[in-house]
Amino acid sequence: MKLAPSILSANRLHLLADIEQMTQKGVDEIHIDVMDGHFVPNFGYDIETVRALSKATSLPLDVHLMIEQPERYIADFVKAGATCLTIHAESTVHIYRCLQLIKNCGIKAGIVVNPGTALEVIQPVLPLVDRILVMTVNPGFGGQQFLETSLARIQQVNRWKEKYDFDIQVDGGINEHNAQLCAKAGADIAVAGSAYFSSDNKEQFINYFHQL
Ligand code: DX5
Ligand code: ZN
Repeated sequence: MKLAPSILSANRLHLLADIEQMTQKGVDEIHIDVMDGHFVPNFGYDIETVRALSKATSLPLDVHLMIEQPERYIADFVKAGATCLTIHAESTVHIYRCLQLIKNCGIKAGIVVNPGTALEVIQPVLPLVDRILVMTVNPGFGGQQFLETSLARIQQVNRWKEKYDFDIQVDGGINEHNAQLCAKAGADIAVAGSAYFSSDNKEQFINYFHQL
C-alpha cells in the first residue's frame, strides 16, 4: 500500500523540515487538504501552499479539494504544481465537466465521496477517473475516528476495478490497525495525518504501510 501523509496535522512553523523528511524517507505522495469554510466548516491549505511545496519537493502533490464549485480553480491548482486533483462529488453539479477539465490539464483526476453519499453517484464518471477517494470520516478535520462502515464501501468500489482502471484511496482516521483492513478491502493508497505525525519512528511507519 502507498502512503500519502496529510500535512493538515503538521505544525505550520515546521512544515519545510517535515516535507524534507518525507522526501528523504520515501513517502509516496504528499496529501494537501484545501478547504473553503463552506463545503466543510474549516479552513485548510491554499493554492500558494501548493506552489511553495512544489518548489520544495519532487514528491507528487495530491490535492484534496474540499471547496464548492472546484471547477473555478482547477487551472490555478494545476499551474501551482498539483499532480492529482480530487474533487468531491457533492461539491458541484458538474462533476463530469470538472473531471474533464482536470484530465485536459494533463494531471490525475480523482473523485471523492463523503461517508453519507451513495457510491452510485460516481458510477457515470468511472471511465474518467484515475483515483477514487473513499472518505473514512466526515471531511473537514484531522484526528477523527475511522468509520467502520467504510470497509464495505471500499469493497464495493473495488468491484468496479474489474471494468475500470483507477486507484482506491482512503482518508480519515487511518492508523496501522485499520490500514490493514482497508488494504484487504482493496485500498491502494492511505492518507494518514495525525497517525503519521504522532509516530516516533517515521521510517518504521512508512515501511509498515508499504508492506501491506
Ligand atoms: C479530513 C482530511 C484528511 C485529514 C486526515 O477532512 O481530508 O486528509 O487530514 O487526518 P487524520 O489522518 O488525522 O484523520
Ligand atoms: Zn484529505
